[in-house]
Order: sequence, then C-alpha cells, then structure tokens
Amino acid sequence: MKRAGEMKALFDVLATGDPAWDLALALDPARLPAHVAVIMDGNGRWARQRGLPRVAGHKSGIDPVRIIVETCAQIGIQALTLYAFSTENWKRPQTEVDTLWQLLRLYLKRELPRLQNNNIRLGALGRWQELSPAVRQDLEATMADTASNTGLGLNLAINYSGRTDIVDAMNRIVARARLAGQLDTLEVSEAALGAALSTSGLPDPDLLIRTSGEMRISNFLLWQIAYAELYVTDTLWPDFDRVHLLRALLDFQKRDRRFGAVSSAAHPASADETDAVGAGVLTRK
Ligand code: FPP
Repeated sequence: MKRAGEMKALFDVLATGDPAWDLALALDPARLPAHVAVIMDGNGRWARQRGLPRVAGHKSGIDPVRIIVETCAQIGIQALTLYAFSTENWKRPQTEVDTLWQLLRLYLKRELPRLQNNNIRLGALGRWQELSPAVRQDLEATMADTASNTGLGLNLAINYSGRTDIVDAMNRIVARARLAGQLDTLEVSEAALGAALSTSGLPDPDLLIRTSGEMRISNFLLWQIAYAELYVTDTLWPDFDRVHLLRALLDFQKRDRRFGAVSSAAHPASADETDAVGAGVLTRK
C-alpha cells in the first residue's frame, strides 16, 4: 500500500481506468532503481513495417522520449540516461544523421517548459563538445536553464560510446598525473576511474532497458552497468510507452540482486550453514 504523497505526481496525471494505474499501484516506491538507462532501438524497423523512410521512425521516437522522461520524474527516479547517438552512428547516411540532430534540437526547444514543470535537470554524456556549434549551443542552453532543478537528472548520451568514455577517463587521469609530476608513480583505482568517467557523480544504473529485442549492449555504459539488471523487450522504441516502462520497473523489483554475494533469502544471517548444506540446500554461488 502506498503512503500518501508517494508517486503522487504520477497518479495526478493518470485517469482512473488507465492501464498504467494498476501497474503503478503495484510498484514499491521503496525499491525503485536509482538510475535507469535505456537503449532506444527499433526506430528503423518501426518505419520499415509501415513502408516509411527510417527518419519517420526517429520522428516517432520523440513522443516516447517525452513520456518516459516525464514518467520517471513523476515516479521519483533519481537518474535516467538515454542512448541518443553513439560514436558509431556517424556511419549512417548523412540525411539520417542530419535528421537526428534536427530532432534533438526540436526536442530541446519544444520540451523546455515541460522539463521545468517536472523539475528535470538536463545533462549530457559523451563527446558532445565535438558536435556542431548549433547543437552544442542548444544543449548548453538547456543544461544551463535546468541546472537548478532538483528532480530527475536526465542524461542524454550523445556522440557516446562506453569505450571512448573509458579511454577519455584514463587520458584525463594520465594528464592530471603528468601535470602534477606524478606519472611515474601513477596507480589507477576503480574509484578513480569511475570518478573520471562522464557519469561521475551518478549512481551506476540499476536497470538497463533495451527495446526491439536485440540482446546486445552496443558499447553503452560498459563500465557502469557491471551489476545492472537487464530488461529486453521486443517492443520497438516508437511503441514504448508508460505501461511498458512500468512493466520493466515491476520486473526489476522481482529480481534478486546479489552483486556477486549470496541471496539474503537463501542465506539469512541467522541460518545455520551446516544444517542448510546437510539438508542439500545450495547456499553459495
Ligand atoms: C536506434 O534505432 C535509435 C537511434 C540511433 C536514435 C534514437 C533517437 C530517437 C529516439 C529520437 C530523438 C531522441 C531524442 C533524445 C530527442 P535504429 O535506427 O537503430 O532502429 P533499427 O535497429 O530498427 O534500424
């Protein structure tokens, strides 16, 4: 049972009878993922199924972006990272690449009031400084305009790849050590590398959602998803809506997260391990 005020912002926008209502009621607000990451895939196939050009799929991918961003904010999730453009996506036809930049700029301009109303702070991950001045300026302006918001942190991974993120982090660490004259004695820890990544300050994703059924990570947040729960749905991104997101969150809440240790249910602190093994119960993985 939810306490008064929990996820109120979500229930405020749901009409009774909305298929999302019962799913939202079933969610445990105390066990939400702090950080959700999404590989938005399937725009091209969505368009092809309708005999449309690929860019029509990307255009239809904007509404789900708005719905998922706002729903995460209304639920009270701390961080959402969307894979908007990978460093490999430059290999696509120029017209498709141009359309993706136009759509990003359109999204930033059109959605600013809604980002503000929902107390959402925009951030960017990846080599976004290498983008064209127009795209960079729009991004910087929206990040500055939303910088003091305290709700959901929305991160757009743009010109991003997990490998370049790790390489850039290492180069930053090496450059700092060189400047300090400490290159000879440099030793890199997990904590130092994590802090030098573009996700510095964010919790690691607890849940990684991928649409369109592909069982791949596609060079996304390679370091950060070490212990993320994976959720792959056949739904194509333009069809992914609030109900799909809530289903993914409910599925996440059923997972037994062990982080390499043993399940607390299978191995309660007070259990007599000798008895458990004697009874044929496997408690260690
Ligand atoms: C992958 O589908 C999708 C992308 C490379 C781009 C994602 C962009 C959007 C959802 C629209 C704009 C986004 C923002 C944040 C405003 P695909 O083209 O690889 O699909 P396919 O595998 O079916 O060909």
